[in-house]
Amino acid sequence: MTDDRYRPGRVHTSRTFPVVPPIYQTTTFELDDTAYADIQGTGGLHETWYSRFNNPTVDAAAAEIARLHGAAHAMMTASGMAAIATTLISLLRAGDTIVASKQVYGDTGDLLERDLPALGIEVVRVDAYDTARWRAAVAEHRPTVVYGETLSNPQLRLLDIPAVAEAAHEVGARLVVDNTFATPYCTRPLALGADVVVASATKFLAGHSDVVAGVAATDDAALMEAIQQRMITFGGCLDAHAAFLVWRGTRTFRVRLQESCQVAAALAERLEGDPAVQAVIHPSRADHPDTEVAARVMPEARGAMLTVVVDGGDERALRLVRHLAVAVEATSLGGVETLASLPFNSSHFNMTPEQRIEAGILPGMVRLAIGLEGEDVLAGDLTAAIAASA
Ligand SMILES: Cc1ncc(COP(=O)(O)O)c(C=O)c1O
Repeated sequence: MTDDRYRPGRVHTSRTFPVVPPIYQTTTFELDDTAYADIQGTGGLHETWYSRFNNPTVDAAAAEIARLHGAAHAMMTASGMAAIATTLISLLRAGDTIVASKQVYGDTGDLLERDLPALGIEVVRVDAYDTARWRAAVAEHRPTVVYGETLSNPQLRLLDIPAVAEAAHEVGARLVVDNTFATPYCTRPLALGADVVVASATKFLAGHSDVVAGVAATDDAALMEAIQQRMITFGGCLDAHAAFLVWRGTRTFRVRLQESCQVAAALAERLEGDPAVQAVIHPSRADHPDTEVAARVMPEARGAMLTVVVDGGDERALRLVRHLAVAVEATSLGGVETLASLPFNSSHFNMTPEQRIEAGILPGMVRLAIGLEGEDVLAGDLTAAIAASA
């Protein structure tokens, strides 16, 4: 070895530290005796030696999300679904039972109905908002895992996290909560009794509709290690470039959510007065069916998702979104731009109209993910589109 060999990773261009974490776009790191000791001791879980295991930019994003959730540990994944699947498969074995909400994100529904049963796991479904039924189902089936989403899509019904956590813990089960819609700005599930919180970081956490990512967070170090081991074998790690975008999004998380939640609540008030609007659904409203749960689970802000139901059914709802000039007709949520989508032709297209009504998804329903355009701009856009769609 000579001193003049080319070692790019050791070139420091500055004596001082960067304010923003560098993007460590490297798959591998130079090994030394400490790294070998960790590889041989823990399987390399704690050392930065190969980027499917650990990467400093990915770790920076995980640390920020752990901080937002008040969690001791967090792990980034390639998508929200990678976080959910990796977490559930870490906790469940053939012969186990999971009691899960009926109202979950569509691909989570496929995981529950198609993939977990194929692995020999029994799945029992319960309405998210029916706390008595959660208690009964958990006591009867004695599951290993209990799973729900803080806020259901698009009905925005709430999961009573403390009550469901208590029921789960009475039978030794772990409660896993998908907090994508509510975000840690409104709800911190771990503080309410959940054992693991998972989320699509694609949405409000990253916040700019420019990266697909996921996160699992917990206070339990052994559980985090078990999930990390599956992330390593299933391979759902996050890339450093993507992690950088998540990290950058977290820097403005609080102010983005403060604005979007406040505007969602204000728009709920303003749209209620529109004669073509049959119903406005937002957990801030006194007529929301879960106000008592909302007061405990989302004590301050009630979320940036807003659902409206217009007269004239799904045909009018479709005309409405086509007349939007500011909000964009697109799937997903949680970006700086307001997105509008229709359950009947996107998230719940594979249900019959009768099944949708049975599930509380009414004709004329429009789901809005409120961004940062401002209350007056959005109120004007929505009111004009409603009028134009008549
Ligand atoms: C509630 C919820 N959970 C999980 C996911 C999956 O996230 P991703 O698309 O990042 O895999 C989504 C995506 O829309 C979602 O809305």
